[in-house]
Amino acid sequence: MADGGFDDGASFRLVAPGAPPRPQVGAAAFRLDRADAVEWLQTLSDASVSLAITDPAYESLEKHRAVGTTTRLKQSRASSNEWFQIFPNARFPALLTELYRVLARDSHLYLFCDQETMFVVKPMAEALGFKFWKALIWDKEQIGMGYHYRSRHELILFFEKGKRKLADLSVADVIRHPRIRGGYPAEKPVAVSEVLVRQSSSPGELVIDPFAGSGSVGVAATRLGRDFLGADLCAEAVAAAAARLGEAGARRDDSRYDAVRR
Ligand SMILES: C[S@@+](CC[C@H](N)C(=O)[O-])C[C@H]1O[C@@H](n2cnc3c(N)ncnc32)[C@H](O)[C@@H]1O
Repeated sequence: MADGGFDDGASFRLVAPGAPPRPQVGAAAFRLDRADAVEWLQTLSDASVSLAITDPAYESLEKHRAVGTTTRLKQSRASSNEWFQIFPNARFPALLTELYRVLARDSHLYLFCDQETMFVVKPMAEALGFKFWKALIWDKEQIGMGYHYRSRHELILFFEKGKRKLADLSVADVIRHPRIRGGYPAEKPVAVSEVLVRQSSSPGELVIDPFAGSGSVGVAATRLGRDFLGADLCAEAVAAAAARLGEAGARRDDSRYDAVRR
């Protein structure tokens, strides 16, 4: 498994202080690994996952970082690296191949990205067999930094493998929620992922995120009674996400993971 990509600057908030984790009997189970997304997916069995929601560290994030449209870590004394490792566009075919393989026969994939990455990912995913339905909009409700039509939204590509009905056909394709301030870099609101988890999985099913970051998808899955498996290259992100999932009431269960391994 590869090494993590950013420093340990203690400048971002991930876990509410105070209360210790209180896992409950019968609570949703989770497992988090420090691992490269593609290598980690390769350890999962075919068709073993009900839903994938992920937010890769795509190349053009570097541009958003340059104009300050997304959260950054403060530089720590320990390291000059203030940003997580980028996942190159050239690796998307391998990532999408693995996602398609591990997803159940009738299932959904949601991928957070910007418009530049959308044009890279969409044809690759379609070539592998995914049906592209549309790009959902996460409306952050407040304008961000930038120069040309300042950024207020992010895209969530909605793909389908086989046929799976959404839970609620009246849900709009714009999900409104303020951005997270002072959190993990590029952290997504749990409430946004909750919409996706509710729409595309049932209680007790398995949700995965191979670029888990602060664990926001996992927290959404936990709150809605789904099991969760996640990975991230960054050791600090994995530790913080695990603590956050415990805080949300999830139960660490490595045997749940073994059940979906080859
Ligand atoms: C945009 S962030 C995800 C943020 C997350 N959605 C959240 O709400 O906190 C992307 C994450 O991908 C991780 N990452 C970068 N390259 C990776 C790789 N090859 N495999 C796994 N994780 C990787 C980074 O460490 C970072 O935590």
